[in-house]
Amino acid sequence: MKTVNYTSYGSPQVLTIEEKDRPEVGKKDLLIQVHTSLVTQGDRRLRSADFPALTWLPGRLLTGLFRPKNPTPGTVFAGRVVEVGSEVTSFSKGDEVYGNSMYGAYAEYMTVPESGTIARMPAGVGYEAAVALPYGALTALVFLKNLGNIRPKQRVLIVGAAGGVGRYAVQLACHFGAEVTAVCRGNNQLVRSLGAHHVIDSETIDFTKDNATYDIIFDTSGTYKYKDCEQALTANGRFLSLYLSLNLLFHMVLTTLFGKRKAIAGVALGTRADLDQLRDFAEAGVVRPTIDRIYPLDQIAAAHTRLETIRPHGEIVINVIPTFRSYPSDTAQNLPEGSEFASV
Ligand SMILES: NC(=O)c1ccc[n+]([C@@H]2O[C@H](COP(=O)([O-])OP(=O)(O)OC[C@H]3O[C@@H](n4cnc5c(N)ncnc54)[C@H](OP(=O)(O)O)[C@@H]3O)[C@@H](O)[C@H]2O)c1
Repeated sequence: MKTVNYTSYGSPQVLTIEEKDRPEVGKKDLLIQVHTSLVTQGDRRLRSADFPALTWLPGRLLTGLFRPKNPTPGTVFAGRVVEVGSEVTSFSKGDEVYGNSMYGAYAEYMTVPESGTIARMPAGVGYEAAVALPYGALTALVFLKNLGNIRPKQRVLIVGAAGGVGRYAVQLACHFGAEVTAVCRGNNQLVRSLGAHHVIDSETIDFTKDNATYDIIFDTSGTYKYKDCEQALTANGRFLSLYLSLNLLFHMVLTTLFGKRKAIAGVALGTRADLDQLRDFAEAGVVRPTIDRIYPLDQIAAAHTRLETIRPHGEIVINVIPTFRSYPSDTAQNLPEGSEFASV
């Protein structure tokens, strides 16, 4: 099978294409024919071992201290189950599935444990759109629902609203009935089209100096410290961040012990139940991906370079198998407007 390989951490050029045997399927595993994968900030971090301060050591221990432990990168997948282990009960051959994994998705075939973050894919959206969800949408769901305890009519502010997590945080917060303020650098039109009620351009307005207060401030950009935002939180407000810094850890401990406002960071380890909920949302049109560009697997290094240089405001999809031509469900027609193919 065709697969991406890397033997050292570094620039997109460490990613090379190789031929390898299909992975062995364990008793509790599924063998998935990967149709699409994604290039995310998470993939970039794993490729370059760029782990923020406090997560550096755990990150390296997890992925390989000096070089990658697992030679096949790629964390997000959508595809079809082609074989199941003898003890697998919840999936069958032929199921269309989507999910995420620590590695292995930049390949024509990958194995995933049945107990992993995997679920049946949304019907009718196609592999290119489905694969957009198990990263940004899953993270936004876990943070807003589980860590933010989001409720209808709350005032929610999302920093980095045009980004990979932010775009879904806006859509989901609107769906949960919140009044959503999106903070971004330009891009008013995009975040308004996702449903934001108010938009703040962070290059001209500093929301932390405004008088408005929010029940949830979700900083997906890592720009703000808890102390910067404290005055902009309601009495019971929550500050959520995707970045765990020493400063934030200090305030997490402090706000757990004292006061009603909370500082919260975490890792979005989504579950099958979360993916099932996202499937319902996708089928109902509650979450819509914004695809930036679709690359074939051979151009994986170019796709990673695009993420690093262009700051795209849409998903970079990897078409491991160019399904959009062969599926009569007409995946291509279901793609969001403006999607571009890097090659066909
Ligand atoms: N903890 C977790 O479980 C978890 C899960 C997923 C991701 N992450 C991490 O979270 C981070 C964000 O991921 P992502 O995929 O959303 O990244 P992304 O696509 O790069 O989005 C970040 C967004 O923040 C915006 N931004 C930066 N500074 C800003 C400012 N001062 N004001 C307003 N917006 C600002 C960027 O704007 P521009 O577009 O103008 O650059 C960009 O749109 C990554 O570092 C990723 O590794 C953590």
